[in-house]
Amino acid sequence: VATKAVIATIVAAHRGRRGALLPILHAIQAELGHVPEETAALLARELNLSRADVHGVISFYHDFRREPPGRTTVRICRAEACQALGSEALVAHARERTGISPGETTADGSLTLEQVFCLGNCALGPAVQVGDRLHGRMDPDRLRAILDEAVS
Ligand code: FES
Repeated sequence: VATKAVIATIVAAHRGRRGALLPILHAIQAELGHVPEETAALLARELNLSRADVHGVISFYHDFRREPPGRTTVRICRAEACQALGSEALVAHARERTGISPGETTADGSLTLEQVFCLGNCALGPAVQVGDRLHGRMDPDRLRAILDEAVS
């Protein structure tokens, strides 16, 4: 019920605007931390779209999370500037350390790993965001400490 109410409020705030689907989905994720399963049906009805259309948009944009995130979210930048500074090694390291890949959450719900394409911190790459905090010049040792703390 709470989820439905949140979605209804967001839809009401965007009603009548063209191309409202994406902003609505972003707002839902910002509010709820993910885009819950029932979203497609609710939005299809509210916006007069087919459920398949809404599903298509949700799955096309990898930014939308289908499951609630873990308690800590670690986002590793894989865009060009950070790649040149070693972000792929960080991703490999994170995979090895946690057993999950970007886009996944550990089974105990402690950690979600994500990849992003530019955090606006290119000069200080490789960049990693932990929760709301941005870290520059990340290296495997610091990342290991962050991951270990998150899953402990
Ligand atoms: Fe990584 Fe911009 S490329 S922060």
